[in-house]
Amino acid sequence: MPLQLITTGDGSHSLLNTDLNETYHSTHGAVQESLHVFINNGLEFFIEHNKPLHIRILEVGFGTGLNAWLTLQLIQDSKIKIHYVSLEAFPISRDIASQLNYPTEIKFPQSKELFMALHEAAWNEPVSIPSNFIIEKRKTTLQEMDFHQNEFDLVYFDAFAPNKQPEMWEVSVLRKVERAIKPAGMFVTYCAKGQLKRDLRSLGLQVESLPGPPGKREMVRATKQ
Ligand SMILES: C[S@@+](CC[C@H](N)C(=O)[O-])C[C@H]1O[C@@H](n2cnc3c(N)ncnc32)[C@H](O)[C@@H]1O
Repeated sequence: MPLQLITTGDGSHSLLNTDLNETYHSTHGAVQESLHVFINNGLEFFIEHNKPLHIRILEVGFGTGLNAWLTLQLIQDSKIKIHYVSLEAFPISRDIASQLNYPTEIKFPQSKELFMALHEAAWNEPVSIPSNFIIEKRKTTLQEMDFHQNEFDLVYFDAFAPNKQPEMWEVSVLRKVERAIKPAGMFVTYCAKGQLKRDLRSLGLQVESLPGPPGKREMVRATKQ
């Protein structure tokens, strides 16, 4: 896959897929976007509201591993246990992963080792990283994946944008994801297209438009009743 390392507005790296001419994160700031959309408005909000001890997360698009690594960081010193299932159709190489500057932009104990451990974890099986985080990377497409009903508490929907990869955002695909969310579970994404909001509502989710990260007006969080 033709990938180019780029530096975004907050100094953190991202990748540019030159075939699609699409970046893995907002060019205004990769870490900033990931923290705002998935961690603050997704994971932290879910924890505040539900006070869970176990959380099952589905991520669509493992990519650089940034969301997984920030998730691991958030619960590192807590009693919460996370099982993190992440789908990726086109994994990046170890060489590219080791060049990403996230562990030098955000430092915490063993930040670099843990970042690389996520990348080096075997595919298609659960792997314990520290004691309270299990990563289960699935090398497959979202389209091929079958889920159980009510499997996940939280979904990080981080596919390429609808204008670049419309097949990821089709209602039939969103329906499959919605079915896999537990009652009171949540779906978060950086995308705030009107069509997406209408589709999520038509699937019975309660949809909120929230302020987006710097450079983006809105993002979406949807909750299952
Ligand atoms: C926006 S990027 C992911 C960003 C990622 N969460 C990160 O923090 O780097 C979208 C990702 O979806 C992956 N992808 C593309 N088609 C896919 C498919 N059909 N199923 C699952 N993942 C796919 C891409 O390879 C890419 O890694």
